[in-house]
Amino acid sequence: MGLSIYLNGTWVTRRQDAVVPLYDHGFLYGDGIFEGIRGYVGRVFRLDDHLRRLYDSARGIHLEIPVSRSHMKELVVEACRRSGDPDLYIRLIVSRGPGDLGIDPRKCTEGAGIYIIAGAIQLYPPQKYEEGLKVVTVPTRRNRPDALPAQIKSLNYLNNIFGKMEANRLGADEGLMLDGSGYVTEATADNVFMVRDGVLSTPAAHFGLLAGITRRVVLDLAGTMGIATREVGMLVQDLISADEIFLTGTGAELIPVIDLDGEMIADGRPGPIFRRLLAGFRALTRTEGEPFLEKVGESSQA
Ligand SMILES: Cc1ncc(COP(=O)(O)O)c(C=O)c1O
Repeated sequence: MGLSIYLNGTWVTRRQDAVVPLYDHGFLYGDGIFEGIRGYVGRVFRLDDHLRRLYDSARGIHLEIPVSRSHMKELVVEACRRSGDPDLYIRLIVSRGPGDLGIDPRKCTEGAGIYIIAGAIQLYPPQKYEEGLKVVTVPTRRNRPDALPAQIKSLNYLNNIFGKMEANRLGADEGLMLDGSGYVTEATADNVFMVRDGVLSTPAAHFGLLAGITRRVVLDLAGTMGIATREVGMLVQDLISADEIFLTGTGAELIPVIDLDGEMIADGRPGPIFRRLLAGFRALTRTEGEPFLEKVGESSQA
């Protein structure tokens, strides 16, 4: 498996060489933003959507990305090409850059740092896609949107990490996070969907969740398949009485949930709408995206 890493202007291939400056505020304070992106069969899936979100997140934290969106696209494609693997996971990070001890971003005078990893990820073991996940509602509430808006995909993931640790402690595969009023937001790094009586529902973005790119793909895919979709306010009780539940995310793709808070969901097996959507999603990932492998010959001297 090829690993290619862009380190703010230089390229490395070994993890131990992939180091960032200690005084970078991305490291000191989580002051920065990121994207998780996938490449399938030599094409980067939904790259434009990820780049739009990255630049929107940058605006959200008043960070100027020192390269244009089209140049960033070339860098991502180049990282994938160098990795040489047709199927990969890409982590794109833009940090505030090196500064002082002290949170004031005005001290970060060198400008933002750009880091790209083109490598591999496996979030859940393969059998979980067949058997389904056990999920628990975790005590930690999702960040209030007026404190840290979920649409900003920032390097501050402690809120989600608390949720993940609680799920681990409770022996579950994933944690379900609620907002301050008890409405379902999302899992710790995935969006949540339910099916009831043939209707596909997911929590509306204003409940303080990251409205993921995979979530959008699934909603659109359902539309093309004639499945009714709703973005709603959702309670844990709604989920427990669902016919199907599944999670979505770039890393996880679509993964079924068969147990929530110790309650079996329907017959405890992944449902038919999940299966149709997963097949549709997999087909999309194999037919669209920004190509990177045919460029191998062109820029091998670069
Ligand atoms: C908090 C959170 N929610 C949802 C998602 C899923 O979003 P996407 O489908 O864009 O990967 C992610 C992953 O990026 C995430 O970090």
